[in-house]
Amino acid sequence: MTLSRPITQAASALRDKFRDVRAASLALAAPLSAEDQCIQSMPDASPTKWHLAHTTWFFETVLLQPYATGYRPFDVRFHYLFNSYYETLGPRHPRPQRGLLTRPSVDEVHAYRSHVDEAVLALLDSGAGERDWAAIEPIVALGLHHEQQHQELLLTDILHALSCNPLLPAYRPAAGPALRLAAVPPAMRWLPRPGGVVQVGHEGPQQGFAFDNETPRHAALLQPHAIADRLVSCGDYAQFIADGGYQRPELWLSDGWAAVQTQGWRHPAYWLAADDARLEAQQQQGDWQVFSLHGVRPMEADAPVSQLSFYEAAAYAEWAGARLPTEFEWEAAFDAPGISQMTGHVWQWTRSSYDPYPGFRPMPGIAAEYNGKFMVGQLVLRGGSVATPAGHTRPSYRNFFPPAARWQFSGLRLAKDV
Ligand SMILES: [Fe+2]
Repeated sequence: MTLSRPITQAASALRDKFRDVRAASLALAAPLSAEDQCIQSMPDASPTKWHLAHTTWFFETVLLQPYATGYRPFDVRFHYLFNSYYETLGPRHPRPQRGLLTRPSVDEVHAYRSHVDEAVLALLDSGAGERDWAAIEPIVALGLHHEQQHQELLLTDILHALSCNPLLPAYRPAAGPALRLAAVPPAMRWLPRPGGVVQVGHEGPQQGFAFDNETPRHAALLQPHAIADRLVSCGDYAQFIADGGYQRPELWLSDGWAAVQTQGWRHPAYWLAADDARLEAQQQQGDWQVFSLHGVRPMEADAPVSQLSFYEAAAYAEWAGARLPTEFEWEAAFDAPGISQMTGHVWQWTRSSYDPYPGFRPMPGIAAEYNGKFMVGQLVLRGGSVATPAGHTRPSYRNFFPPAARWQFSGLRLAKDV
């Protein structure tokens, strides 16, 4: 079938995007050994190899099997191994046991990726008729945004795995020497924000891709408030610790204080005090050190604090005489004059529960299980982090994690009532 010129051009652009995103996943895994890529350090985190295979399974299952005539699965057993949580697609390997999958090997997973890549590119090249294009294009777009979400998880999960190793190995050495930034962070400024009705959420396909949880666009009522012009820094957070923040129950939500007690939290997840046994093993000294993708580095006072749970973010805000912004205050302030660090640093915890917007309808088909069924017991984070692929997020983008999660690049920005 001959496609119209606009569709041919759109298919060509989508092929290029597909190649780029798929290559980016392999590039992120490249610094890791086969042993690194098999490890699962906790049930919430997945092995690198599993991320590479699962994102491939997604294209195979949701795109190729329904739409690529004559497609032959690479290995039908992978359907069980690499389904994540799709109940409509049948039983699956238990999530906490993903680290037990020494087979298939990394090489076999790479072959699986190549097999599926070829079939997807062939489908986009000539296999799609005009009738199918309307169905195929949104699925490929969803699969690519899905893969980008797993690219960030690949980094957060391997950082957690490496943090469990007493050698504290670097994922990738830093390009240059560690910089010690100014010890005193620049003063934070409060930006006054008006109350009133604002429109929030994504406008729909005419505005580009969005996940279903960002829609429908709707009106939200804000009270007059103020929002911080920058993120809370490591230097700010060190003052909270020095002031006994982790020893003062009056600052904490009840569940958060229980987590402090049971988990022994005394600082953000990857901070190392001078008396930390792992730091001593490395014969390093000094003030706070931070384990990062580049290994152990001196804490940078100006850098946004990261790897915080919602509970820690809320306790810090209480200590600072402030609160966390709601997700709609955050979205309305996105373009405010003078505001900075809204994307590309850390995900910002908000005080908003991850709930459906008024009139929310899940995506059709198996993608209905993508977001909606997780809308209970989680908090919304906004913005995007250093680990988020460029161009992946939007002002309306809603990330979500349970309140105790602290292995993500998650920090905070303050807000307050006026
Ligand atoms: Fe997934």
